[in-house]
Amino acid sequence: QAADKQGYKHYMLKEIHEQPKVMQDTLEGRISQTSVLPEILGSQASLILPHVEQVHVIACGTSFHAGMVARYWIEKIAGLPCMVEVASEYRYRDVVVPPNTLFVCISQSGETADTLAALRFARQAGYLATLAICNVPGSSLIRETDLALMTRAGPEIGVASTKAFTTQLIALMLLTLVLRRVRQAASRGQDTCEQRIVSALHALPDKINRVLALDEQIEAYAQSFADKQHALFLGRGTQYPIAMEGALKLKEISYIHAEAYPAGELKHGPLALVDKEMPVVAIAPHDDLLEKLKSNLQEVQARGGQVLVFADGAARVGAEMGLAVLHMPEVIDELAPILYTLPLQLLAYHVAVLKGTDVDQPRNLAKSVTVE
Ligand code: G6P
Repeated sequence: QAADKQGYKHYMLKEIHEQPKVMQDTLEGRISQTSVLPEILGSQASLILPHVEQVHVIACGTSFHAGMVARYWIEKIAGLPCMVEVASEYRYRDVVVPPNTLFVCISQSGETADTLAALRFARQAGYLATLAICNVPGSSLIRETDLALMTRAGPEIGVASTKAFTTQLIALMLLTLVLRRVRQAASRGQDTCEQRIVSALHALPDKINRVLALDEQIEAYAQSFADKQHALFLGRGTQYPIAMEGALKLKEISYIHAEAYPAGELKHGPLALVDKEMPVVAIAPHDDLLEKLKSNLQEVQARGGQVLVFADGAARVGAEMGLAVLHMPEVIDELAPILYTLPLQLLAYHVAVLKGTDVDQPRNLAKSVTVE
């Protein structure tokens, strides 16, 4: 078994390091230099997708966080209304399905009981079509949906999902660009937005390698979490779901209580919890919401909270504010959620190793939850 880990101490660490390769695999044969190739969703898709007027996304756990990121993308890049919900709530709610809605379910395993039940409900509920983003060919989810886009993460052994999540994000970005293309078909001409994102997708695996090279610094920061009971993760926009994913990773494998908040909500409650025993992680790429996030961080600093910031050079957070900063490579806003996932995975991993937990098989959790 140790051989399967290829020299890594845990499957989770091996899977974190596989991400540049599996992202590349997920893009393979699906993009040219500047655009998404036609028919990546199969030939039927061209008959269905022109009718899509909104999107409902359903998933559980980490896959739900991928869906949360996709909502920002589908609204901003494809211009379609999008709702995202956990499958265990969705399946027991009286969902009203607007005409021409595409149902998208996301699952690493394709066998999660709640997600399958949601899909089976959706198939009777008058959706335009169902689409799966999934990592396991031949899984129930793939057999039962009209359309599918496979992630190519390969087998994921660690219970805490890592490479499945980032490849889901890649697949969801491809889906977003396909939806955008269909909606823009009438306007013709070159789409500079698509060109910009596709070029950045080509460059992404290299940037991921640069983030993996920050491992030692992240390991050093992990020291200040290992003896804490709680941690707070803050982000805004697409980084809010990434904060949720970072908090989930820490909870799952280090058993530290971690909560994610959209930074603008800090003043509506969680600020009361902040003191020197509550480390705060902030995800702060240089985007439209950065200035607002900085003022949120000042509120934390003023209350004695220890803040660890993940930011790029242009964000100028460290020098200006005197905070602990891990410097990330620059990346276009649209792909920042993918890049900023990596340091949070590594942080959770190192905290868990310091605490001596069973990283690959955390207590009480299963890789795939096939019963309700
Ligand atoms: C379990 C796993 C998580 C996973 C979730 C959804 O809780 O421990 O890592 O995100 O199920 O699984 P799925 O296979 O549907 O993505």
